[in-house]
Amino acid sequence: MELNTIGVIGAGIMGSGIGQVSAAAGYEVVVQDIYAEALDKAKASMEKSLGKLVSKEKMTESDMNATLARIRFTADLEEACKEADLIIEAVFENLELKHEMFKKFENSCKAEAILGSNTSALPITEIASVTNRGDKIVGIHFMNPVPIMKGVEIIRGQLTSDKTMETTLAYIKKLGKEPMVAVDYAGFIVSRLLDVLFNETIKLIEEGNMPEDIDKAMELCAGHPMGPCRLLDLVGAEIALHGMEMMERDFGDRYKPHPLLKKRVLAGLLGQKTGHGFYEYK
Ligand code: CAA
Repeated sequence: MELNTIGVIGAGIMGSGIGQVSAAAGYEVVVQDIYAEALDKAKASMEKSLGKLVSKEKMTESDMNATLARIRFTADLEEACKEADLIIEAVFENLELKHEMFKKFENSCKAEAILGSNTSALPITEIASVTNRGDKIVGIHFMNPVPIMKGVEIIRGQLTSDKTMETTLAYIKKLGKEPMVAVDYAGFIVSRLLDVLFNETIKLIEEGNMPEDIDKAMELCAGHPMGPCRLLDLVGAEIALHGMEMMERDFGDRYKPHPLLKKRVLAGLLGQKTGHGFYEYK
């Protein structure tokens, strides 16, 4: 199936990255969010990210302008849905909200449209369960920062059709990224493994280790591009907590989030997005 227009629902960090890379690959993009401020921020972040690529000579200025010209921003969900051949939902990690969104997609999108979710932990079959379009629903899990990270997890729900998988895999390749298929259980591959690292990191902090030492250890001794405290600040503590809670629900105590993680989330120490995490951000 030919995709022309990508509808990105939710203009946070992930939504803006997904919109940017889709437009850069030549797709028409409609980014929707109910908050005008989120749309303004998404536009500014795309301009900044594309500007970086131009300054590093990874993109020409005219390609940057053409990319930006392919992106429209709207608060109107119906508008984004009715035009899209592929919807990528990137709203908050909350099952009730995702159910509400997917019911709206089912009512407003073309019958042949593919409905993707960028969830990092919620089983796709569970998201799809409130619709009658399970064959068209797929997990498309991009990584942060989207313009840079090569890999995208594709999650096949219980009813996802071969055609939906083929079209989704071809879309990811057209973005210049590498897809990998993950089985549909909470956390898929990436969150399932990263959240274990994050929970142990919190235990190390509670035992008195310093974030700088933990990060230095994993960067210099284990070759990680970014230590787990810096990475948790990038991902967001609330995203990791949500992932662990989903996995605890489905796999039991081994994913039980450390109480200090919950306390940090309640205190707003989410990382880069609040400006405060293990480190301070402007
Ligand atoms: N747009 C454009 N360019 C960007 C960018 C962006 N948003 N972010 C970084 N860059 C560029 C920088 O300009 C720089 O370019 P050059 O190499 O040409 O100088 C390059 O990327 C590297 O950036 P930095 O030098 O600032 O920093 P770095 O070397 O530490 O790399 C990183 C940054 C690519 C993020 C690297 O640290 C890394 O790979 N970290 C791990 C990230 C990761 O694991 N992400 C997945 C998290 S899990 C997730 O997202 C899913 C989930 O649901 C939880």
